[in-house]
Amino acid sequence: MRPAHATKALDISVGTRVEADGGLTPLVLLVSAVAAIGGFVFGYDIGGGGGSFAMEGFQTQFGWANKSEAVRADEIGWISALLTLGAAAGAAPSGILSDRVGRRPCIITSALIFSIGASLQAFASGSPSASLAQLYVGRLVGGFGVGMLSTTVPVYIAECAPGSWRGSLSMCWQFAIVIGIVVASLANVPLAHWDQGWRVSYGGNVVFALLLALLMVWMPESPRWLGQRGREAALRRTLSRLRSSTLAAEEEATSIEAKAAEEAAGGASSWRGLLRRPLAMRHRMLLGVALQCWQPLAGINAIMFFAPKILLAYFSAEAALWGTLGINVANAAATVVALVGVDRLGRVPLLLASGLLMCVCHLAMVALALSPPSQQLGYAVVSVASLFVASFAFGWGPLPWTVCSEIFPTKYRSKATAVTTATNWLVNTAVGKVFPLLPLATAFAIFAAACFAACATVFFFQPETANLGMEQIDEAFESHRVRRVSAKLWSADRRARIRAEGRRRMRAAAGAAVVAYASEVRAAGGDGAAGVGKGEEKRESIV
Ligand code: BGC
Repeated sequence: MRPAHATKALDISVGTRVEADGGLTPLVLLVSAVAAIGGFVFGYDIGGGGGSFAMEGFQTQFGWANKSEAVRADEIGWISALLTLGAAAGAAPSGILSDRVGRRPCIITSALIFSIGASLQAFASGSPSASLAQLYVGRLVGGFGVGMLSTTVPVYIAECAPGSWRGSLSMCWQFAIVIGIVVASLANVPLAHWDQGWRVSYGGNVVFALLLALLMVWMPESPRWLGQRGREAALRRTLSRLRSSTLAAEEEATSIEAKAAEEAAGGASSWRGLLRRPLAMRHRMLLGVALQCWQPLAGINAIMFFAPKILLAYFSAEAALWGTLGINVANAAATVVALVGVDRLGRVPLLLASGLLMCVCHLAMVALALSPPSQQLGYAVVSVASLFVASFAFGWGPLPWTVCSEIFPTKYRSKATAVTTATNWLVNTAVGKVFPLLPLATAFAIFAAACFAACATVFFFQPETANLGMEQIDEAFESHRVRRVSAKLWSADRRARIRAEGRRRMRAAAGAAVVAYASEVRAAGGDGAAGVGKGEEKRESIV
């Protein structure tokens, strides 16, 4: 059997898509599309809930006519914060569940929990206070499901994807979120004319959550989870279905098994191990937590949840919903840039460009917020908000999810993503609660500073992981040095260095292949020296 490390010419430099890992197959596409329904469910929730505040039926049900502006702002804050708080609570248990029972059952469970929560929200009834209590409980339970989904789905997609397509396929998660947001905000426009329409805004996605649960029954389990559990036969069976060639499947299975054995030799995974130095776990954890902290602090949900409310200061309720829809379409359109660019341009340049543009947009928002409101200003707000959302969508929207789903060793992946995802939701909760209370100009100035700090984090601490096999990412972290400010990120020089680094890693992998092959031959009772000879030949053909 060929040793795992002796994979064919894997040119792992940014910008090159290689098919040596089996390339894209219909089943991989289907798996990613089905799992991404989880993202759609989450996106629909964001788009649906935000729009409901501008609906008369909603305002009547919750007795808004008799409530002061401050009380309404507080209720809006809770409606958004309880979902995100529930999501933070759902992240940790799903990390444990997906480690124990597998990614697939965990996704199914999450979808069912979400359906219960969303149904509670859709059927909120009785007096305004009883309705509100039911809505709050529903937000918390639904949020729990969303938190579980957002921890498990990106990991599941990344673990099923071949290395050269992992970035683009991981984008399915975010792409589905933004489609969900657009569909919900499109639906909100006619729903606003029906006094019960808000119920569909909160509960319409139950249909999709149940569809997800049903379809996941037929999807394969994550090959990396199977490898980690030592289920050799199932691992090979699954990979032979997911990859286009038996050779690619066999090589990947061997590589996964070797990595699982290496990780197992280091002892069982523990929560404490997340912050230890071996395997550069501390670096990976701090980076993952920082990315997921900066994402909500970049201020996206101030726009996603509150755009209709902000636009009401300039336009009628109907026009505010149309304006929100325009912003959400910009979100979806710009996500395509990330989809195409993530493996070609790399994670780091996209995050930097996206962060800097968002920073500029926030500064423009500060200026607009300080000017007296007029309809003209309203158009400027919609334009800057659309540009901001588009900038978020091609970088900071999808990439924290993608990066966190790929940077951790399999042994720690579930626990580590549970922590990074919970961080995202906790910070989201704080933003959702605090934003409505701050003057707009102050809030946007804070977001601008956060975007700048986010770029600095990426610039100094994030190694490029585009096109690396999941097993090669360990080395990228172990050899990463804090970037010097003088490094020229955009130059041809940088691209050349990335390629050279790719070749260096290839040589290291080939060297490991020679050693592994020789010991395999020796273990099989063959001639070790001859084995090394063959290994050397193989090395020649690889490098
Ligand atoms: C974020 C959400 C946000 C959405 C908007 C996601 O990646 O996690 O908080 O609402 O993008 O597109």
